[in-house]
Amino acid sequence: MKTILITGGAGFIGSHVVRLFVNKYPDYSIINLDNLTYAGNLANLADVEKMSNYEFIKADIVEGVTMMEIFRAYKVDGVIHLAAESHVDRSISSPMEFIHANIVGTVNLLNAARIAWKDNLENENRFYHISTDEVYGSLGDTGFFTESTAYDPRSPYSASKASSDHLVRAYYHTYKLSVVLSNCSNNYGSFQFPEKLIPLAINNIRNNKQIPVYGKGENVRDWLYVEDHAIAIDLIYHWGLNGETYNIGGQNEWKNIDLIRLLCKIMDKKLDREPGTSEKLITFVKDRAGHDLRYAIDSSKIQEELGWKPSLQFEEGMEKTIDWYLANEKWMKNVTSGDYQKYYEEQYLKR
Ligand code: NAD
Ligand code: DAU
Repeated sequence: MKTILITGGAGFIGSHVVRLFVNKYPDYSIINLDNLTYAGNLANLADVEKMSNYEFIKADIVEGVTMMEIFRAYKVDGVIHLAAESHVDRSISSPMEFIHANIVGTVNLLNAARIAWKDNLENENRFYHISTDEVYGSLGDTGFFTESTAYDPRSPYSASKASSDHLVRAYYHTYKLSVVLSNCSNNYGSFQFPEKLIPLAINNIRNNKQIPVYGKGENVRDWLYVEDHAIAIDLIYHWGLNGETYNIGGQNEWKNIDLIRLLCKIMDKKLDREPGTSEKLITFVKDRAGHDLRYAIDSSKIQEELGWKPSLQFEEGMEKTIDWYLANEKWMKNVTSGDYQKYYEEQYLKR
């Protein structure tokens, strides 16, 4: 039985990865390690929490000794490392938290893996680091990020992720740790914390609140349905080559303002509102400092080498996503009120 430690499994993407692995691999023991920051929500995993191959550990990756103890106690075979501070705006107001969680936290996990796997560095074990397209910087109107694009991070968040990517590669070259990395574009789907553009806009439209669009809404993002990202992570974890990096993207570029207009149109239909009602909520606000203009991923490597491609058209993915948020009003209320933090105490501490 393989033991896989998934860090950040109570967050948005992590919860989809945990769900996929717990259901698809009954022979694996899946450990979700998360310290439940504001972005970590165990209610995201209510459907798998009683499965016999799933276990949750509340721990902070910034605590190096604890990471070593966990590796020793659980005989971890592989790591899928998603835990991170993930919101660019928060990194602008509070950069130090990103340095701790994203850089120091990653090094602590690398050290724990190196020590635990010292007799088997190149074989059975695997450290999979999940990163972002933001490490490549900002594109103009044309071009794509490939795996060989030079790093040029421009926010404290992307700089901390870039730093962690370099450290993972350094452990591969220096200590022969078995690693694989991926850099993905913007994800959307269920269970995303409503500080990010799409769930924030859906929630505001439902509540007739303004939709804040930074600057002129001209910035472009390449959107990928989160379940397609989880499938790519599964493929890379099992079939990606040692030391390699894979770019993952949706081939689906949208200017923010066009995306918001599409969202408004679908929401008007779903909420039985007059066409044009939700668009009136669009409010242009002060731009994000250092706002990257455009991200776009060339994902031909993972498509050609591992046979992955995005499964959903964007309009279909948006419909599914909107339906999910509309059907899960309680989840949204809990998250926006802070009540979801009680879930851990209710479900886990009293056991
Ligand atoms: P998220 O903010 O929704 O979740 C992050 C999770 O990490 C939370 O559950 C949080 O509690 C946990 N965490 C944070 N600091 C921790 C610490 N010190 N110790 C233990 N757990 C900690 O993030 P997400 O959007 O799901 O992103 C997950 C990963 O994927 C991140 O590494 C992010 O950089 C990367 N990524 C995200 C996107 C995206 O569009 N969201 C795209 C590409 C890559
Ligand atoms: O590209 C991958 C990255 O995508 C991930 O690494 C990050 O973890 C994730 O948060 C995301 O970063 P972005 O900054 O692109 O996502 P966000 O949802 O914050 O913003 C998307 C775009 O919308 C961006 O151009 C800023 C803009 N925006 C965002 C918010 C929250 C607005 O115009 N208004 C808003 O209120």
